[in-house]
Amino acid sequence: MDMGIKGRNAIVTGASRGIGLAIAQGLAAEGVNVALVARNSAVLDKECAAIASTYGVQAAAIPADLKSLDAVQSSAVKATEKLGPIDILVNSAGAIPASSLSSLEDETFHDAWSLKLSGYIRMTREIISGMRERGWGRIVNIVGLGGKNPSAGHLYGGVANAALMNFTGALALDVAKDGILVNAINPGMIESERIIEMGQKWADDAGISVEDLLAKQTAGLPMRRMGSLQEVSDVAVFLSSERCTYVHGTIIPVAGGMGTTI
Ligand SMILES: NC(=O)c1ccc[n+]([C@@H]2O[C@H](COP(=O)([O-])OP(=O)(O)OC[C@H]3O[C@@H](n4cnc5c(N)ncnc54)[C@H](OP(=O)(O)O)[C@@H]3O)[C@@H](O)[C@H]2O)c1
Repeated sequence: MDMGIKGRNAIVTGASRGIGLAIAQGLAAEGVNVALVARNSAVLDKECAAIASTYGVQAAAIPADLKSLDAVQSSAVKATEKLGPIDILVNSAGAIPASSLSSLEDETFHDAWSLKLSGYIRMTREIISGMRERGWGRIVNIVGLGGKNPSAGHLYGGVANAALMNFTGALALDVAKDGILVNAINPGMIESERIIEMGQKWADDAGISVEDLLAKQTAGLPMRRMGSLQEVSDVAVFLSSERCTYVHGTIIPVAGGMGTTI
């Protein structure tokens, strides 16, 4: 299927690894030029070189710590300078520690929200006016199923994710007449480094190995397995594409049936 986005330009945040990198690769496979934003400059350079040579698109490494407004603004400017006007934004940079109410310092959870909650909103504010002027845009927010299913052990992540779902809906209503489609993906348990790192914290708390913890968690999933990065990327690429024309303001779980409701 031709996704109709060859030659478009995208920013993907959190693109040095995990879901963000998989989406950047998926977009590049459709002929989209991509700006990869994250902190690890060496990894970004390596991944951009691989993307450019594999898919024959432009791939721009933009190292930045997206916790600050300045960094978000300068990343958006650099991406535009390197690629041209931005048509597609995928917000995926998030690293909220798994923790209950009292186990995070005030500064730590504010930093985590600055990256994920403020970061997604700020980056959107930077690119939305250009999309409006050109009458075409796609925004995909990678949120998290925990925003719908409160969990004492991932309280700060759940709160930010609930807010980002509301943001996605509100923004969708704001831009509905402008040719811009806005959607969110709620990953369930997806096989990324982050899941191992979060699992380590819960495993330490439970006094078991991370392997045992993940095996136990996986056995409890409806499909008895975690999702792959590719499975999230495929949905994100569709939502970023010209084939997606009337899916708007939705929160799509990519969670293998986890948290299913009607
Ligand atoms: N994996 C899952 O099962 C799952 C489930 C629900 C929701 N999610 C959400 O999906 C998104 C992606 O998760 P993931 O599993 O792909 O995580 P990941 O593998 O840990 O990747 C996170 C990305 O964010 C970047 N990042 C972290 N801190 C940053 C900062 N201060 N400034 C800029 N970039 C930063 C990281 O790169 P650098 O370290 O180089 O900066 C990395 O590229 C997150 O928002 C997460 O909450 C994931």
